[in-house]
Amino acid sequence: MRKKIVAGNWKMNKTPSEAVALAKMLVPLVNTDKVDVVFCVPAIDIIPVAEAIKGTKIALGAENMYFEESGAYTGEISPAMLTDAGVKYVILGHSERRQYFAETDETVNKKVKKALEHNLIPIMCCGETLEQREKGITIDFIRTQIKCGLNGISKDDITKVVVAYEPIWAIGTGKTATSAEAEEVCAAIRGVLGEMYDKETAEKIRIQYGGSVNGKNAAELFAMPDIDGGLVGGASLKEEFKDIVNY
Ligand code: 13P
Repeated sequence: MRKKIVAGNWKMNKTPSEAVALAKMLVPLVNTDKVDVVFCVPAIDIIPVAEAIKGTKIALGAENMYFEESGAYTGEISPAMLTDAGVKYVILGHSERRQYFAETDETVNKKVKKALEHNLIPIMCCGETLEQREKGITIDFIRTQIKCGLNGISKDDITKVVVAYEPIWAIGTGKTATSAEAEEVCAAIRGVLGEMYDKETAEKIRIQYGGSVNGKNAAELFAMPDIDGGLVGGASLKEEFKDIVNY
């Protein structure tokens, strides 16, 4: 049985003091071990939020990471900086990073490998644009993202990875994929993982859905056989996050 994982992606929201206030508001509402709960926060909020969630069941996540160990990479954050600060998960290849910060399947792949080397759990994102969906090439496109992004990951390591399927047209738009649409792609992702590894291995990998997940639609989405939780943007910044965690 795969344990569900609900992660909040705070994106570029909340100053350090606001982040502490949000974490403290949410902790008593989402402090459960029935599902894995993760707060993925901006880099500058990592240290204060780590302190605010200390001793709870909530895990800390980052929103990005660089694929080198250290050195002359102004503005970047290394994997060791994350682990030293208590980070357990790291979102990699979010569509916003691909769109605005020129991330490619190749750089995402380097980051996934480097994260695993440091025992960080990558949440690797994939997802199609509206144009790709309308052209009917969603599954082909996602297949490429999965095969490239996870290229060369060992069978042992792949079961640690979390994949997040986030159709770009559903992000921040209030337009959620229907549970059937989300399930179709998540099942296809599991199929690709089965081809890359084997069926038994693919069955162990957690696949989240993301894109306008809220307190009302979470239960139906998470009930689908290949959807193992959610990656939540807007609703993770509100009390409503508890309705998703306690779906
Ligand atoms: P929204 O939940 O705001 O649509 O964002 C989804 C997302 O991008 C999470 O990574």
